[in-house]
Amino acid sequence: MVVMTADIGIVTVSDRAHRGEYEDRGGPAIEQWLNEVLSSSWRAVGRVVPDEQPLIESVLRELCDDVGCGLVVTTGGTGPAPRDVTPEATEAVCQRILPGFGELMRTESLKSVPTAILSRQLAGTRGSTLIINLPGKPAAIGECLDAVFAAVPYCLDLIGGPRLETNPDRLVAFRPGATMKP
Ligand code: MTE
Repeated sequence: MVVMTADIGIVTVSDRAHRGEYEDRGGPAIEQWLNEVLSSSWRAVGRVVPDEQPLIESVLRELCDDVGCGLVVTTGGTGPAPRDVTPEATEAVCQRILPGFGELMRTESLKSVPTAILSRQLAGTRGSTLIINLPGKPAAIGECLDAVFAAVPYCLDLIGGPRLETNPDRLVAFRPGATMKP
């Protein structure tokens, strides 16, 4: 049997992490979350970029078009500060925006922090890749991915991405029409 390994891009957007002024904690937190949740074979393709829109766009294009990632998750640069440009870069490289992702992630995050509404995080598709923005706080990563990830495997099915399976003890992926266990 041929086991397909899905490449998943993990992009930390941070001037200071890029300069090495502090350790990147967001990227490893995303990788750990995916390791806990995914049961199918996958490989992390990590990048750390400064808060520069052209550089973020070029990393996103590289991960989608050259590496062939089915999913790209970014962390950081979603707020209202002048150098926060991750949503702009994401929007520029995506053909379609999926507004429900940002809406749901903010709604869930608001249960733990009032400043959740400051994040402009969004998600969209570029060809057969889904790109999801997360805020930069490591604590936000689990909260946001827990909120939306049940819909991610079916989204990848629909756009022609890799088939992702989840560990049902941790998170049940919802695929409409799939046989439900009684
Ligand atoms: N969402 C969650 N779940 N947890 C958080 O701590 N921080 C908020 C918000 N969303 C936060 C969150 C804050 S303080 C900001 S400024 C915005 O995300 C943007 O963060 P970013 O610029 O690091 O992406």
